[in-house]
Amino acid sequence: MDAFIIEGGNPLCGEVSISGAKNAVLGIIPAAVLCACSSKIENVPDIKDVNKMVDILEKLGAEIYREEDTIIINTEKSISYDVSEYEEETGQMRASYYLMGALLGRYKKAVVPLPGGCNIGDRPIDQHIKGFEALGARVLIEHGQVKLDAPELKGAHIFLDVVSVGATINIMLAATRAEGKTVIENAAKEPHIVDVANFLNLMGANIKGAGTDVIKIVGVESMHGCEYSVIPDQITTGTYMMMAAATGGDVLIRNIIPKHMEAISAKLTEMGVTVSEEDDGLRVTRTKPLKACNVKTMPYPGFPTDLQQPMAVLMTIAEGTSTVTESIFESRFKYVDELRRMGANISINGRTASINGVKELSATKIRATDLRAGAAMVLAGLVADGETKVVDIVHIDRGYENLQENLRGLGAVIRRISE
Ligand code: EPZ
Repeated sequence: MDAFIIEGGNPLCGEVSISGAKNAVLGIIPAAVLCACSSKIENVPDIKDVNKMVDILEKLGAEIYREEDTIIINTEKSISYDVSEYEEETGQMRASYYLMGALLGRYKKAVVPLPGGCNIGDRPIDQHIKGFEALGARVLIEHGQVKLDAPELKGAHIFLDVVSVGATINIMLAATRAEGKTVIENAAKEPHIVDVANFLNLMGANIKGAGTDVIKIVGVESMHGCEYSVIPDQITTGTYMMMAAATGGDVLIRNIIPKHMEAISAKLTEMGVTVSEEDDGLRVTRTKPLKACNVKTMPYPGFPTDLQQPMAVLMTIAEGTSTVTESIFESRFKYVDELRRMGANISINGRTASINGVKELSATKIRATDLRAGAAMVLAGLVADGETKVVDIVHIDRGYENLQENLRGLGAVIRRISE
């Protein structure tokens, strides 16, 4: 098991470039199997979840070539629609659920184990199933497997009961190869939804409205390979913005889309941080003490649930009382106990954490309880007084490319140890 050892107290200064978006590429890679073709995907981050997805596709029979941040996925030969053997791999990430929509779209049938992923509360897939059934699939869940079978896949009008990133992408994948028109209402609007739709359209799909809450898809009979570059990662960008702010640093974060960062830039500005747009990036500088603020997580364009954890760390050292309300996942405060062990003053009431700012956090051994909580623990280590050890960083490796190298480049004192 690897761990990070971090010597806190060094302001981060310099430039960092952001890699491709995890949650976009994890939809795009399965999308590439929708037809017998070869697609080239650039700006693919080197992270565990991506490697795992590539591994599963190879096991299903796809030929995959990888060089630096580019992968070529060749599915000209038929691949298997049965993923049931790879339960261990699919159980390690959420995005394996996209194999359902993609394989159903191509083969009109699929067998895919129920997905794993971060333990952040109840994560049903009923909206995915509702969508597949509306398209004409029979869905059976037994022995941990989702079995989908659609003698005919036909377009349908689907109103999602909750705004779901996963269900929106999954239905879009299957509907791309259905006969006729599908309308998804109350669709999620996250940047990665738009990115997956753009990729599908380049492959010959007919999708309109991605990025709004009504997506219209006219099924196509044939698709073809394409070349595509994945958008930069909104959550990784936000994490570095908060790291710069927390350490009182001055960091230019490049290769990003500033528009995707508006909810985060606005909150940081409210806290007394300077966020300015420069070239293809955002510069984040802090010279004054942090001020308390209130954050409620919301679907895009609201404040992302995947950034409430690093935001909470920022609040632990802000002047005054802040609140974080988590409205997406029911159990996303597991990391709070770790922060309390560092001297943070946090109380939880239902879905709201109240955080009274303290002068500083004190270093100790803390645990990455999941991916985003893990990034937050690194952030806590960067500002704490003394040497922090973050264990269970396997979670962090699932989603952040070169984290310690990038942080060292910005002046942080951080190293990885194997135990
Ligand atoms: C995606 O998860 C992301 N994962 C998550 O990122 C992210 O936190 C989340 O979207 C919200 O932005 C991937 O893209 C792989 P949802 P997903 O379906 O699709 C409820 C990370 O750290 N719901 O948008 O699982 C659900 O319980 C991860 O990168 C249903 O009730 O999220 C939740 O309350 C963590 N029924 C809400 O909707 C369903 O069928 C939103 O979930 C589906 C979801």
